Amino acid sequence: MRGSSEAFRFLDKEISLCYFLSILERKKARMEKKTFGVGLFGLGTVGGGVAELLLNENWKSKDYEFVLKKVAVRHLNKRRSISLPSRLLTTNPREVLEDPEIDTVIEVMGGISPAKEIIIEALRKGKNVITANKALLARSGSLIFKEATENNCYLGVRASNIASYRLIESLAYSPSKIEELIGIFNGTCNYILTEMERRGESFSNVLKKAQEIGYTEKDPSDDIDGYDTAHKLVVLLGLTSGHFLPLESLFVEGIRKITLQDILFAKELGYRIKLVAIARRKGEELEARVHPALLPIGRGLARLDGIENGIEIRDETGVEVGLQAPGAGRYPTATAILEDLVCMAEGRKLVSPYQREHLTLKKMEEVETRYYLRFNALDQAGVLAKISGILGSYNISIKAVLQKGERESERSEFVPVIMLTHKAREKDVQNAIRKINSLSVIKGETLLIRVEEGIF
Ligand SMILES: NC(=O)c1ccc[n+]([C@@H]2O[C@H](COP(=O)([O-])OP(=O)(O)OC[C@H]3O[C@@H](n4cnc5c(N)ncnc54)[C@H](OP(=O)(O)O)[C@@H]3O)[C@@H](O)[C@H]2O)c1
Repeated sequence: MRGSSEAFRFLDKEISLCYFLSILERKKARMEKKTFGVGLFGLGTVGGGVAELLLNENWKSKDYEFVLKKVAVRHLNKRRSISLPSRLLTTNPREVLEDPEIDTVIEVMGGISPAKEIIIEALRKGKNVITANKALLARSGSLIFKEATENNCYLGVRASNIASYRLIESLAYSPSKIEELIGIFNGTCNYILTEMERRGESFSNVLKKAQEIGYTEKDPSDDIDGYDTAHKLVVLLGLTSGHFLPLESLFVEGIRKITLQDILFAKELGYRIKLVAIARRKGEELEARVHPALLPIGRGLARLDGIENGIEIRDETGVEVGLQAPGAGRYPTATAILEDLVCMAEGRKLVSPYQREHLTLKKMEEVETRYYLRFNALDQAGVLAKISGILGSYNISIKAVLQKGERESERSEFVPVIMLTHKAREKDVQNAIRKINSLSVIKGETLLIRVEEGIF
Protein backbone atom coordinates (compact mmCIF):
# COMPACT_ATOMS: atom_id res chain seq x y z
CA MET A 1 0.00 0.00 0.00
CA ARG A 2 2.74 2.34 1.10
CA GLY A 3 4.83 1.48 -1.88
CA SER A 4 1.97 2.13 -4.26
CA SER A 5 1.13 5.56 -2.74
CA GLU A 6 4.83 6.46 -3.04
CA ALA A 7 4.66 5.33 -6.60
CA PHE A 8 1.62 7.56 -7.10
CA ARG A 9 3.44 10.47 -5.54
CA PHE A 10 6.36 9.77 -7.84
CA LEU A 11 3.96 9.61 -10.76
CA ASP A 12 2.33 12.83 -9.55
CA LYS A 13 5.73 14.46 -9.49
CA GLU A 14 6.46 13.20 -12.94
CA ILE A 15 3.11 14.48 -14.21
CA SER A 16 3.66 17.90 -12.66
CA LEU A 17 7.16 17.99 -14.12
CA CYS A 18 5.78 17.10 -17.54
CA TYR A 19 3.07 19.70 -17.10
CA PHE A 20 5.62 22.30 -16.04
CA LEU A 21 7.90 21.42 -18.96
CA SER A 22 5.01 21.63 -21.40
CA ILE A 23 4.11 25.11 -20.05
CA LEU A 24 7.75 26.13 -20.44
CA GLU A 25 7.76 24.69 -23.92
CA ARG A 26 4.63 26.61 -24.87
CA LYS A 27 5.95 29.77 -23.26
CA LYS A 28 9.21 29.35 -25.16
CA ALA A 29 7.32 28.71 -28.36
CA ARG A 30 5.22 31.84 -27.69
CA MET A 31 8.35 33.81 -26.98
CA GLU A 32 10.02 32.49 -30.12
CA LYS A 33 7.00 32.93 -32.36
CA LYS A 34 7.94 35.78 -34.63
CA THR A 35 5.31 38.41 -35.26
CA PHE A 36 5.50 40.53 -38.39
CA GLY A 37 3.55 43.78 -38.59
CA VAL A 38 2.33 44.14 -42.15
CA GLY A 39 1.44 47.35 -43.96
CA LEU A 40 -0.45 46.97 -47.22
CA PHE A 41 -0.46 49.54 -50.02
CA GLY A 42 -3.51 48.87 -52.22
CA LEU A 43 -6.75 47.01 -51.60
CA GLY A 44 -7.85 46.31 -55.17
CA THR A 45 -7.87 42.99 -57.03
CA VAL A 46 -4.61 41.74 -55.54
CA GLY A 47 -4.59 43.72 -52.27
CA GLY A 48 -8.12 42.51 -51.44
CA GLY A 49 -6.94 38.91 -51.94
CA VAL A 50 -3.85 39.47 -49.79
CA ALA A 51 -5.91 40.98 -46.94
CA GLU A 52 -8.38 38.11 -47.16
CA LEU A 53 -5.63 35.47 -46.99
CA LEU A 54 -3.83 37.28 -44.18
CA LEU A 55 -7.00 37.26 -42.09
CA ASN A 56 -7.57 33.59 -42.87
CA GLU A 57 -6.59 31.24 -40.05
CA ASN A 58 -5.10 28.73 -42.49
CA TRP A 59 -2.05 30.91 -42.96
CA LYS A 60 -1.25 30.90 -39.26
CA SER A 61 1.92 29.07 -38.35
CA LYS A 62 3.26 28.02 -34.96
CA ASP A 63 6.56 29.76 -35.77
CA TYR A 64 5.40 33.11 -37.06
CA GLU A 65 2.41 35.36 -37.32
CA PHE A 66 1.53 38.13 -39.78
CA VAL A 67 -0.56 40.94 -38.34
CA LEU A 68 -2.20 43.34 -40.77
CA LYS A 69 -1.62 46.72 -39.16
CA LYS A 70 -2.56 49.31 -41.79
CA VAL A 71 -3.88 49.43 -45.34
CA ALA A 72 -3.24 52.48 -47.54
CA VAL A 73 -5.80 53.15 -50.26
CA ARG A 74 -6.77 56.07 -52.48
CA HIS A 75 -10.47 56.23 -51.56
CA LEU A 76 -11.55 55.56 -47.98
CA ASN A 77 -15.24 55.06 -48.68
CA LYS A 78 -15.08 52.89 -51.77
CA ARG A 79 -17.26 49.77 -51.87
CA ARG A 80 -14.96 46.77 -51.71
CA SER A 81 -15.17 42.99 -51.92
CA ILE A 82 -13.60 42.81 -48.47
CA SER A 83 -14.64 44.88 -45.48
CA LEU A 84 -11.93 45.77 -42.99
CA PRO A 85 -12.24 47.65 -39.70
CA SER A 86 -12.09 51.37 -40.56
CA ARG A 87 -9.19 51.87 -38.11
CA LEU A 88 -7.02 49.82 -40.51
CA LEU A 89 -7.64 52.05 -43.53
CA THR A 90 -5.76 55.23 -44.34
CA THR A 91 -5.08 57.45 -47.33
CA ASN A 92 -1.86 58.69 -45.77
CA PRO A 93 1.19 56.59 -46.75
CA ARG A 94 3.14 58.06 -43.82
CA GLU A 95 0.89 56.17 -41.41
CA VAL A 96 2.33 52.97 -42.85
CA LEU A 97 5.89 54.08 -43.45
CA GLU A 98 6.32 55.66 -40.03
CA ASP A 99 4.60 52.99 -37.95
CA PRO A 100 7.38 51.30 -35.93
CA GLU A 101 5.22 48.20 -35.55
CA ILE A 102 5.17 47.71 -39.33
CA ASP A 103 8.30 45.86 -40.41
CA THR A 104 6.96 44.52 -43.71
CA VAL A 105 5.40 46.49 -46.54
CA ILE A 106 3.37 44.88 -49.32
CA GLU A 107 3.02 47.13 -52.37
CA VAL A 108 0.09 46.19 -54.60
CA MET A 109 -1.07 49.62 -55.69
CA GLY A 110 0.67 49.51 -59.09
CA GLY A 111 2.03 52.38 -61.19
CA ILE A 112 5.46 53.96 -61.01
CA SER A 113 4.98 56.91 -58.71
CA PRO A 114 4.40 57.01 -55.75
CA ALA A 115 4.98 53.22 -55.62
CA LYS A 116 8.70 53.66 -56.31
CA GLU A 117 9.23 56.33 -53.64
CA ILE A 118 7.24 54.28 -51.12
CA ILE A 119 9.29 51.12 -51.75
CA ILE A 120 12.62 52.96 -51.58
CA GLU A 121 11.65 54.76 -48.36
CA ALA A 122 10.39 51.54 -46.77
CA LEU A 123 13.68 49.78 -47.59
CA ARG A 124 15.73 52.72 -46.28
CA LYS A 125 13.76 52.50 -43.06
CA GLY A 126 14.79 48.84 -42.84
CA LYS A 127 11.37 47.40 -43.68
CA ASN A 128 11.04 44.27 -45.81
CA VAL A 129 9.19 44.81 -49.08
CA ILE A 130 7.03 42.52 -51.17
CA THR A 131 5.72 43.81 -54.48
CA ALA A 132 3.74 42.61 -57.50
CA ASN A 133 4.66 45.69 -59.51
CA LYS A 134 6.34 44.31 -62.64
CA ALA A 135 6.14 47.65 -64.49
CA LEU A 136 8.11 49.33 -61.72
CA LEU A 137 10.58 46.46 -61.29
CA ALA A 138 11.24 46.40 -65.04
CA ARG A 139 12.12 50.10 -64.94
CA SER A 140 13.86 50.39 -61.58
CA GLY A 141 14.76 46.80 -60.63
CA SER A 142 18.50 47.52 -60.27
CA LEU A 143 17.91 50.41 -57.88
CA ILE A 144 15.29 48.57 -55.81
CA PHE A 145 17.44 45.44 -55.43
CA LYS A 146 20.46 47.60 -54.58
CA GLU A 147 18.50 49.37 -51.82
CA ALA A 148 17.23 46.05 -50.47
CA THR A 149 20.76 44.62 -50.37
CA GLU A 150 22.31 47.71 -48.80
CA ASN A 151 19.62 47.92 -46.14
CA ASN A 152 19.69 44.17 -45.52
CA CYS A 153 15.97 43.80 -46.20
CA TYR A 154 13.95 41.01 -47.77
CA LEU A 155 12.64 41.91 -51.19
CA GLY A 156 9.91 39.61 -52.50
CA VAL A 157 9.01 39.82 -56.18
CA ARG A 158 7.37 36.46 -56.84
CA ALA A 159 4.02 38.06 -57.64
CA SER A 160 5.52 40.14 -60.45
CA ASN A 161 5.55 37.09 -62.70
CA ILE A 162 3.26 34.46 -61.33
CA ALA A 163 3.70 32.26 -64.41
CA SER A 164 7.19 31.47 -63.17
CA TYR A 165 7.16 32.37 -59.49
CA ARG A 166 7.54 28.78 -58.38
CA LEU A 167 10.81 28.66 -60.34
CA ILE A 168 12.15 32.03 -59.34
CA GLU A 169 14.11 31.01 -56.28
CA SER A 170 15.75 28.01 -57.93
CA LEU A 171 16.57 30.10 -60.99
CA ALA A 172 18.12 32.85 -58.91
CA TYR A 173 20.18 30.35 -56.87
CA SER A 174 21.12 28.05 -59.75
CA PRO A 175 24.84 27.96 -60.50
CA SER A 176 24.11 27.27 -64.18
CA LYS A 177 23.08 30.05 -66.44
CA ILE A 178 19.95 30.06 -68.52
CA GLU A 179 20.76 29.46 -72.15
CA GLU A 180 17.27 29.68 -73.56
CA LEU A 181 13.93 30.80 -72.20
CA ILE A 182 10.57 31.05 -73.89
CA GLY A 183 7.39 32.04 -72.13
CA ILE A 184 3.77 33.00 -72.50
CA PHE A 185 3.40 35.68 -69.85
CA ASN A 186 0.17 37.46 -70.68
CA GLY A 187 -3.16 35.78 -70.04
CA THR A 188 -5.16 38.43 -71.92
CA CYS A 189 -3.26 37.90 -75.18
CA ASN A 190 -3.40 34.14 -74.84
CA TYR A 191 -7.15 34.35 -74.18
CA ILE A 192 -7.69 36.58 -77.24
CA LEU A 193 -5.67 34.36 -79.59
CA THR A 194 -7.34 31.19 -78.26
CA GLU A 195 -10.86 32.62 -78.57
CA MET A 196 -10.22 33.95 -82.10
CA GLU A 197 -9.29 30.43 -83.15
CA ARG A 198 -12.02 28.67 -81.13
CA ARG A 199 -14.90 30.94 -82.13
CA GLY A 200 -13.67 32.08 -85.52
CA GLU A 201 -14.01 35.71 -84.42
CA SER A 202 -12.04 38.84 -85.22
CA PHE A 203 -9.40 40.35 -82.93
CA SER A 204 -11.57 43.38 -82.10
CA ASN A 205 -14.64 41.29 -81.20
CA VAL A 206 -12.69 39.06 -78.85
CA LEU A 207 -10.88 42.04 -77.31
CA LYS A 208 -14.26 43.61 -76.54
CA LYS A 209 -15.34 40.38 -74.84
CA ALA A 210 -12.10 40.25 -72.82
CA GLN A 211 -12.80 43.80 -71.59
CA GLU A 212 -16.41 42.91 -70.69
CA ILE A 213 -15.38 39.97 -68.53
CA GLY A 214 -12.58 41.94 -66.89
CA TYR A 215 -9.61 40.09 -68.41
CA THR A 216 -8.12 43.39 -69.49
CA GLU A 217 -8.24 47.07 -68.63
CA LYS A 218 -10.30 49.71 -70.46
CA ASP A 219 -7.01 50.70 -72.04
CA PRO A 220 -5.61 47.30 -73.00
CA SER A 221 -2.41 48.58 -74.67
CA ASP A 222 -0.02 47.28 -72.00
CA ASP A 223 -1.35 43.77 -72.55
CA ILE A 224 -1.94 43.59 -76.30
CA ASP A 225 1.04 45.69 -77.35
CA GLY A 226 3.36 43.31 -75.49
CA TYR A 227 4.62 45.64 -72.75
CA ASP A 228 3.25 43.61 -69.85
CA THR A 229 5.08 40.57 -71.27
CA ALA A 230 8.23 42.68 -71.73
CA HIS A 231 8.09 43.87 -68.09
CA LYS A 232 7.98 40.27 -66.91
CA LEU A 233 10.84 39.22 -69.19
CA VAL A 234 13.04 42.08 -67.95
CA VAL A 235 12.32 41.18 -64.31
CA LEU A 236 12.96 37.48 -64.88
CA LEU A 237 16.25 38.13 -66.69
CA GLY A 238 17.19 40.62 -64.00
CA LEU A 239 16.57 38.01 -61.33
CA THR A 240 18.49 35.26 -63.06
CA SER A 241 21.39 37.22 -64.50
CA GLY A 242 21.52 40.29 -62.31
CA HIS A 243 21.24 42.39 -65.44
CA PHE A 244 18.08 44.50 -65.74
CA LEU A 245 17.85 45.39 -69.41
CA PRO A 246 16.63 48.90 -70.20
CA LEU A 247 13.04 48.39 -71.29
CA GLU A 248 13.52 50.57 -74.37
CA SER A 249 16.32 48.33 -75.62
CA LEU A 250 14.01 45.34 -75.96
CA PHE A 251 12.27 44.49 -79.23
CA VAL A 252 8.53 44.47 -78.39
CA GLU A 253 5.67 43.78 -80.77
CA GLY A 254 2.07 43.02 -79.80
CA ILE A 255 -0.80 41.09 -81.31
CA ARG A 256 -2.92 43.87 -82.89
CA LYS A 257 -1.95 42.90 -86.43
CA ILE A 258 -2.85 39.22 -86.10
CA THR A 259 -6.00 38.37 -88.06
CA LEU A 260 -8.25 35.33 -87.89
CA GLN A 261 -6.98 34.52 -91.36
CA ASP A 262 -3.40 34.26 -90.05
CA ILE A 263 -4.49 32.00 -87.22
CA LEU A 264 -6.19 29.68 -89.71
CA PHE A 265 -3.29 29.74 -92.20
CA ALA A 266 -0.85 29.01 -89.40
CA LYS A 267 -3.00 26.07 -88.32
CA GLU A 268 -2.99 24.70 -91.84
CA LEU A 269 0.81 24.85 -91.78
CA GLY A 270 0.93 23.04 -88.40
CA TYR A 271 1.33 26.01 -86.04
CA ARG A 272 -0.51 28.11 -83.46
CA ILE A 273 0.14 31.79 -82.94
CA LYS A 274 1.11 32.90 -79.41
CA LEU A 275 2.57 36.05 -77.90
CA VAL A 276 5.93 34.95 -76.53
CA ALA A 277 8.86 36.32 -74.59
CA ILE A 278 12.17 34.87 -75.77
CA ALA A 279 15.68 35.06 -74.35
CA ARG A 280 18.73 33.25 -75.71
CA ARG A 281 22.31 33.72 -74.78
CA LYS A 282 25.66 32.84 -76.25
CA GLY A 283 28.46 33.76 -73.88
CA GLU A 284 27.86 37.35 -72.93
CA GLU A 285 25.56 38.06 -75.85
CA LEU A 286 21.86 38.00 -75.08
CA GLU A 287 18.96 37.92 -77.45
CA ALA A 288 15.74 39.13 -75.79
CA ARG A 289 12.49 39.94 -77.54
CA VAL A 290 8.70 39.89 -77.25
CA HIS A 291 6.46 39.27 -80.25
CA PRO A 292 3.82 36.94 -81.63
CA ALA A 293 5.28 33.68 -82.92
CA LEU A 294 4.15 30.55 -84.72
CA LEU A 295 4.76 27.56 -82.43
CA PRO A 296 4.41 23.93 -83.60
CA ILE A 297 0.92 22.60 -82.76
CA GLY A 298 0.79 20.00 -80.02
CA ARG A 299 4.12 20.94 -78.43
CA GLY A 300 4.85 22.76 -75.17
CA LEU A 301 3.57 26.30 -75.01
CA ALA A 302 1.44 25.95 -78.17
CA ARG A 303 -0.92 23.79 -76.11
CA LEU A 304 -1.73 26.53 -73.60
CA ASP A 305 -5.24 27.86 -73.96
CA GLY A 306 -7.13 30.83 -72.54
CA ILE A 307 -5.58 32.86 -69.73
CA GLU A 308 -3.04 30.12 -68.97
CA ASN A 309 0.66 31.12 -68.92
CA GLY A 310 3.78 29.01 -69.15
CA ILE A 311 7.54 29.02 -69.32
CA GLU A 312 10.18 26.70 -70.78
CA ILE A 313 13.83 27.01 -69.81
CA ARG A 314 17.04 25.29 -70.86
CA ASP A 315 20.19 25.94 -68.87
CA GLU A 316 23.79 25.73 -70.04
CA THR A 317 24.09 22.12 -68.88
CA GLY A 318 21.13 21.16 -71.05
CA VAL A 319 18.68 20.74 -68.16
CA GLU A 320 15.18 21.67 -69.28
CA VAL A 321 12.36 22.77 -67.00
CA GLY A 322 8.88 23.95 -67.76
CA LEU A 323 5.94 25.25 -65.84
CA GLN A 324 2.35 26.04 -66.59
CA ALA A 325 0.43 28.40 -64.31
CA PRO A 326 -2.37 30.91 -64.28
CA GLY A 327 -1.04 34.24 -65.50
CA ALA A 328 -2.97 36.59 -63.26
CA GLY A 329 -5.93 36.87 -60.92
CA ARG A 330 -6.70 37.75 -57.33
CA TYR A 331 -5.83 34.48 -55.62
CA PRO A 332 -2.91 33.23 -57.72
CA THR A 333 -1.22 36.63 -57.25
CA ALA A 334 -2.12 36.94 -53.55
CA THR A 335 -0.79 33.42 -52.96
CA ALA A 336 2.54 34.36 -54.56
CA ILE A 337 2.72 37.29 -52.14
CA LEU A 338 1.92 35.12 -49.15
CA GLU A 339 4.62 32.70 -50.28
CA ASP A 340 7.10 35.56 -50.20
CA LEU A 341 5.91 36.45 -46.69
CA VAL A 342 6.55 32.89 -45.55
CA CYS A 343 10.03 32.84 -47.14
CA MET A 344 10.81 36.12 -45.40
CA ALA A 345 9.53 34.80 -42.07
CA GLU A 346 11.66 31.67 -42.45
CA GLY A 347 14.70 33.84 -42.95
CA ARG A 348 15.24 32.82 -46.57
CA LYS A 349 16.63 35.51 -48.80
CA LEU A 350 16.07 35.90 -52.47
CA VAL A 351 19.51 36.09 -54.04
CA SER A 352 20.34 39.66 -54.76
CA PRO A 353 20.98 39.79 -58.48
CA TYR A 354 22.77 43.10 -58.30
CA GLN A 355 25.43 43.08 -61.06
CA ARG A 356 26.21 39.41 -61.17
CA GLU A 357 27.07 39.32 -64.84
CA HIS A 358 27.43 41.61 -67.74
CA LEU A 359 25.38 40.90 -70.84
CA THR A 360 25.25 42.65 -74.18
CA LEU A 361 21.95 42.74 -75.97
CA LYS A 362 22.06 41.46 -79.54
CA LYS A 363 20.56 43.91 -82.02
CA MET A 364 17.20 42.75 -83.33
CA GLU A 365 18.37 43.19 -86.93
CA GLU A 366 21.06 40.57 -86.32
CA VAL A 367 18.65 37.98 -84.92
CA GLU A 368 18.18 34.88 -87.06
CA THR A 369 14.96 32.96 -87.08
CA ARG A 370 12.32 31.57 -89.43
CA TYR A 371 9.45 33.66 -90.74
CA TYR A 372 5.81 33.45 -91.77
CA LEU A 373 5.13 36.10 -94.42
CA ARG A 374 1.67 36.99 -95.69
CA PHE A 375 1.62 38.99 -98.89
CA ASN A 376 -1.50 40.45 -100.44
CA ALA A 377 -0.57 39.73 -104.06
CA LEU A 378 -2.15 40.21 -107.47
CA ASP A 379 -3.68 36.94 -108.62
CA GLN A 380 -1.72 36.58 -111.84
CA ALA A 381 1.11 34.53 -113.33
CA GLY A 382 4.68 35.53 -112.47
CA VAL A 383 3.93 37.22 -109.15
CA LEU A 384 5.25 34.37 -107.04
CA ALA A 385 8.45 34.36 -109.06
CA LYS A 386 8.89 38.10 -108.45
CA ILE A 387 8.46 37.68 -104.68
CA SER A 388 10.73 34.68 -104.39
CA GLY A 389 13.31 36.40 -106.64
CA ILE A 390 13.58 39.30 -104.18
CA LEU A 391 13.69 36.98 -101.17
CA GLY A 392 16.44 34.96 -102.88
CA SER A 393 18.48 38.09 -103.53
CA TYR A 394 18.55 38.62 -99.74
CA ASN A 395 19.57 35.00 -99.01
CA ILE A 396 16.12 34.05 -97.80
CA SER A 397 15.05 30.60 -98.89
CA ILE A 398 11.46 29.44 -98.88
CA LYS A 399 10.34 26.32 -97.04
CA ALA A 400 6.63 26.29 -97.87
CA VAL A 401 4.12 28.32 -99.88
CA LEU A 402 0.39 28.50 -99.36
CA GLN A 403 -1.66 30.31 -101.95
CA LYS A 404 -5.32 30.89 -101.36
CA GLY A 405 -7.85 31.64 -104.06
CA GLU A 406 -10.00 33.66 -101.62
CA ARG A 407 -10.01 37.25 -102.74
CA GLU A 408 -10.62 40.11 -100.29
CA SER A 409 -13.88 40.88 -102.12
CA GLU A 410 -15.46 39.81 -105.40
CA ARG A 411 -14.02 42.80 -107.20
CA SER A 412 -10.58 42.49 -105.69
CA GLU A 413 -7.82 40.96 -107.77
CA PHE A 414 -5.58 40.37 -104.76
CA VAL A 415 -5.20 37.11 -102.86
CA PRO A 416 -3.22 36.19 -99.75
CA VAL A 417 0.05 34.36 -100.41
CA ILE A 418 1.78 32.82 -97.41
CA MET A 419 5.43 31.83 -97.34
CA LEU A 420 7.35 30.07 -94.59
CA THR A 421 11.05 30.73 -94.79
CA HIS A 422 14.09 28.84 -93.57
CA LYS A 423 16.30 30.64 -91.04
CA ALA A 424 17.15 34.14 -92.18
CA ARG A 425 18.55 37.32 -90.72
CA GLU A 426 15.95 39.85 -89.52
CA LYS A 427 17.67 42.72 -91.31
CA ASP A 428 17.57 40.85 -94.66
CA VAL A 429 13.91 39.93 -94.19
CA GLN A 430 12.93 43.53 -93.37
CA ASN A 431 14.83 44.85 -96.39
CA ALA A 432 13.32 42.24 -98.70
CA ILE A 433 9.80 43.00 -97.46
CA ARG A 434 10.30 46.72 -98.01
CA LYS A 435 11.29 46.00 -101.61
CA ILE A 436 8.40 43.56 -102.14
CA ASN A 437 5.88 46.03 -100.66
CA SER A 438 6.90 48.58 -103.26
CA LEU A 439 5.95 46.24 -106.15
CA SER A 440 2.78 47.18 -108.00
CA VAL A 441 1.60 43.55 -107.72
CA ILE A 442 1.49 43.86 -103.92
CA LYS A 443 -1.25 45.68 -102.03
CA GLY A 444 -0.78 46.99 -98.49
CA GLU A 445 1.77 45.95 -95.90
CA THR A 446 3.12 42.41 -95.81
CA LEU A 447 2.59 40.73 -92.45
CA LEU A 448 5.62 39.13 -90.82
CA ILE A 449 5.36 36.71 -87.89
CA ARG A 450 8.42 34.94 -86.55
CA VAL A 451 8.47 31.15 -86.23
CA GLU A 452 9.88 29.51 -83.10
CA GLU A 453 10.34 25.86 -82.20
CA GLY A 454 10.07 26.14 -78.41
CA ILE A 455 12.05 23.91 -76.05
CA PHE A 456 9.66 21.04 -75.29
N1 LIG B 1 -4.55 41.97 -61.09
C1 LIG B 1 -3.73 40.95 -61.27
O1 LIG B 1 -4.15 39.82 -61.58
C2 LIG B 1 -2.25 41.15 -61.08
C3 LIG B 1 -1.37 40.05 -61.28
C4 LIG B 1 -0.01 40.22 -61.06
C5 LIG B 1 0.47 41.46 -60.67
N2 LIG B 1 -0.40 42.50 -60.51
C6 LIG B 1 0.16 43.78 -60.10
O2 LIG B 1 -0.38 44.11 -58.81
C7 LIG B 1 -0.52 45.50 -58.67
C8 LIG B 1 -1.96 45.83 -58.27
O3 LIG B 1 -2.83 45.37 -59.25
P1 LIG B 1 -4.42 45.32 -59.01
O4 LIG B 1 -4.99 44.63 -60.19
O5 LIG B 1 -4.72 44.81 -57.66
O6 LIG B 1 -4.79 46.89 -59.09
P2 LIG B 1 -6.17 47.57 -58.67
O7 LIG B 1 -7.26 46.58 -58.58
O8 LIG B 1 -6.33 48.74 -59.56
O9 LIG B 1 -5.89 48.10 -57.17
C9 LIG B 1 -5.01 49.15 -56.91
C10 LIG B 1 -5.16 49.53 -55.44
O10 LIG B 1 -4.16 50.48 -55.11
C11 LIG B 1 -4.76 51.60 -54.45
N3 LIG B 1 -3.99 52.79 -54.83
C12 LIG B 1 -3.71 53.26 -56.06
N4 LIG B 1 -2.98 54.37 -55.98
C13 LIG B 1 -2.78 54.61 -54.67
C14 LIG B 1 -2.09 55.61 -53.94
N5 LIG B 1 -1.45 56.61 -54.56
N6 LIG B 1 -2.09 55.52 -52.58
C15 LIG B 1 -2.73 54.53 -51.94
N7 LIG B 1 -3.39 53.54 -52.59
C16 LIG B 1 -3.43 53.59 -53.93
C17 LIG B 1 -6.19 51.67 -54.96
O11 LIG B 1 -6.96 52.34 -53.99
P3 LIG B 1 -8.54 52.54 -54.14
O12 LIG B 1 -9.12 51.15 -54.11
O13 LIG B 1 -8.94 53.35 -52.98
O14 LIG B 1 -8.77 53.21 -55.46
C18 LIG B 1 -6.52 50.18 -55.10
O15 LIG B 1 -6.99 49.66 -53.90
C19 LIG B 1 -0.07 46.11 -60.00
O16 LIG B 1 1.28 46.46 -59.90
C20 LIG B 1 -0.23 44.96 -60.98
O17 LIG B 1 0.63 45.05 -62.10
C21 LIG B 1 -1.74 42.37 -60.70
